[in-house]
Amino acid sequence: MSTQPSLVHRFEPSTDTARPPLLLLHGTGGDEADLLPLGAMVAPGAALLSPRGAVLENGMPRFFRRLAEGVFDEDDLRRRTDDLAGFIRWAQAEYGIAAPIALGFSNGANIAASLLLRHPGLVRGAVLLRAMAPFREAPAARLDGTSVLMLSGTADPIVPEENSKRLAALLAADGATVRHHELPAGHGLSQLDVTLTREWIAGL
Ligand code: MLT
Repeated sequence: MSTQPSLVHRFEPSTDTARPPLLLLHGTGGDEADLLPLGAMVAPGAALLSPRGAVLENGMPRFFRRLAEGVFDEDDLRRRTDDLAGFIRWAQAEYGIAAPIALGFSNGANIAASLLLRHPGLVRGAVLLRAMAPFREAPAARLDGTSVLMLSGTADPIVPEENSKRLAALLAADGATVRHHELPAGHGLSQLDVTLTREWIAGL
């Protein structure tokens, strides 16, 4: 096993060990500090593991390369997803944490969806905020026992409604328990995202 983390990251230990840890995955142009306040709001006391995407697009960190907006470099996505899986395994051993719940926003939600499909069971659940279907043809996966909350925006200029519905249907067809809300919102997050995420995590 590697003794070096593969990704720059922040780790905040739990103050409430009953809470599952959160894996925080930022959007394009974010970094490892971005989602820590959101994590603390939606899962107070949970351990927070927050890596920085290793790809730079015009100086902005991302988790995988894209060819254009909404058009992904799927070879790179597969490779970066596997790197992220290795990082999660490293962090679980290093920090002694259980399987996390992934909480991803935008580009971070897209790699979280890819993680579900390529490494079923590695995270115990996922909150996908403004996610898109990551692959044109998704790999086969069994996701029984995995819970997913998807929050999409009806006025999102980046994620077409058809696309988020397709992702929700795909994850459900693979056996995940999916709750998908379409909120009166754009690509940015709203207070309703925070409230629904907090309630969903508390109910897990
Ligand atoms: C992506 O590239 O992952 C999506 O288009 C979301 C974004 O980062 O804008």
